Amino acid sequence: MNESCEPRSRVWLEISLEKLRRNLGRIRESVAPCGVIAVLKANAYGLGVARIAEALAGEGVAGFAVAEPREALQLVHLGLPVQILGGMLPEELPATVAAGIIHPVVSVEIARAISAEAVRQGRRVECQVKLDTGMGRLGILARDAVPAIREIAALPNLDCTGLYSHFPVAYRAGEEFTLGQIAAFRGVVDALAAEGIRFSKLHIANSDGINNFPEACRPPFTHVRTGINLHGSFDAEGQRALHLEPVLELKARLIAVRLLPAGTKMGYGLTHTLQRETRVGVVAAGYADGLPLALSNRGCLLVGGELCPVLGRISMDYTSVSLEPVPQAQVGDVVTCLGGAGLRAITVDQWAQLKNTHPYEIICSFGTRVERRYV
Ligand SMILES: Cc1ncc(COP(=O)(O)O)c(C=O)c1O
Repeated sequence: MNESCEPRSRVWLEISLEKLRRNLGRIRESVAPCGVIAVLKANAYGLGVARIAEALAGEGVAGFAVAEPREALQLVHLGLPVQILGGMLPEELPATVAAGIIHPVVSVEIARAISAEAVRQGRRVECQVKLDTGMGRLGILARDAVPAIREIAALPNLDCTGLYSHFPVAYRAGEEFTLGQIAAFRGVVDALAAEGIRFSKLHIANSDGINNFPEACRPPFTHVRTGINLHGSFDAEGQRALHLEPVLELKARLIAVRLLPAGTKMGYGLTHTLQRETRVGVVAAGYADGLPLALSNRGCLLVGGELCPVLGRISMDYTSVSLEPVPQAQVGDVVTCLGGAGLRAITVDQWAQLKNTHPYEIICSFGTRVERRYV
């Protein structure tokens, strides 16, 4: 088929790379001299990792962090440090060692396996030790850290450059728990330094840490790791110390405009009945594209800049809205499902609230049919 005949997607994410870069700039300024590691796991939280990583690479980002090897391997060509944050499976090591990825060390056992693979390949491999200071998920417990890291640091072909940990509740500013994590981390750093074991990279702060715990964003810490702040979003709770701009808008097309009589029952479950004759718009986007079912009979979409209430239940591919606020609306019009400016803006936070979740889940839930367009 001639490429020019191929229809464009009816539903798309408009992602502003300029706003993304500005967000990075503001984060960098706020944590300097600490470097900023961009967390791009899960396809850059759904935004499309290739373009997002490219856009950040030239803007002074210190490196990239991801959750697993396949994500890491996609990024090595950009020439910046790429690190895996989570656990490794032994069978993943031949590829990741060969690619020069920074390996996470969450136990002495995996450190031995990484070292053995590095020796087998005749390479040196950079690794960073993950401390569990309170997340309860992965890492060496702070109380076991000194003897464990002593052993890890002596393993052949391992360059143990960093130590890092993670916050579970840093959205609660001033919280004792998080301050305790920082103290435990620093205790391990000091105890190891007394034995002559030093690291050039120390990091613990995520976006919540950046906004709520300045002490985690200055020396001895050397870096912060941020994911959601790059997108201009924040955790649902906590301070928003940084002024950031949302980088994405979700848009779709109006596929039908219909005049329906009073008494018409709408959509699956017949959950809405029109009280009077109503101009109804059918938008070509549904829950398969990431619109939360919770918007059914509760949310609004923007048509012609006007907020149009959702009528009935959101279905997989379609959402019906009242077009009463915008009589001039026509088939083909662009509908803003998420985004817009000023008082009428529909935000990730609003969707998260309606869905009773956090912004991360909203951002990561855009469907595969949604085209990513970079502007
Ligand atoms: C270990 C680790 N560090 C940093 C981040 C980035 O978190 P955020 O998107 O809140 O900045 C994550 C994301 O969950 C993570 O798992």
